[in-house]
Amino acid sequence: MAAQLVVKPAVAADIPAIVHLFGELARHHGEMQPNNPRYGVPSARWREIVEKTLGDPDEHVLVARSDVEVVGFVRFHYEEKPWGTSCEVETLVVDEDWRGRGAGSRLLEATEEAAVANGAGGIRADILIGNDEGVAFWQARGYTNFALRFGKPLGEG
Ligand SMILES: CC(C)(COP(=O)(O)OP(=O)(O)OC[C@H]1O[C@@H](n2cnc3c(N)ncnc32)[C@H](O)[C@@H]1OP(=O)(O)O)[C@@H](O)C(=O)NCCC(=O)NCCS
Repeated sequence: MAAQLVVKPAVAADIPAIVHLFGELARHHGEMQPNNPRYGVPSARWREIVEKTLGDPDEHVLVARSDVEVVGFVRFHYEEKPWGTSCEVETLVVDEDWRGRGAGSRLLEATEEAAVANGAGGIRADILIGNDEGVAFWQARGYTNFALRFGKPLGEG
């Protein structure tokens, strides 16, 4: 049964919890891709990113909160595509101790509701290759994969 959770927009007081969750995400993904520089950045950098994100009206962050703590968050924004507005989910993470108890589903439902209210015609997310549990989560909620994302580092760093 889903735990008692409330989903609502993030506020400044949630910053430490969101930074902590970025750290958990980096650890989780870093085990799959140890050489990916994204998962080696220090928590001070995540804090900068979170503060900037919460101050950006084009970025949306929702937190799932139990009676006592933030247990997960989702970050998304909108992009105009030739076919209409796309809701782009950049991050979705639930605290390790809370996974499998419905928080991720609640966050995604709230995101979809917000996207519909904003007139979005579609919603998208990138899933790391090797994140089989993440793939199962998205597929079970009606999402299908339609692309592979390519990248390479540039310069020295
Ligand atoms: C993927 C994630 C956000 C799902 O959140 P959640 O609160 O565990 O999800 P829910 O409880 O609503 O749903 C559970 C489903 O998620 C999937 N899942 C993924 N990781 C899981 C985990 N560690 N434990 C349990 N379920 C997990 C399962 O498919 C499960 O399916 P079920 O509903 O048929 O049992 C969360 O497990 C997480 O933070 N994982 C690490 C980060 C990540 O992979 N993010 C997604 C890529 S952006």
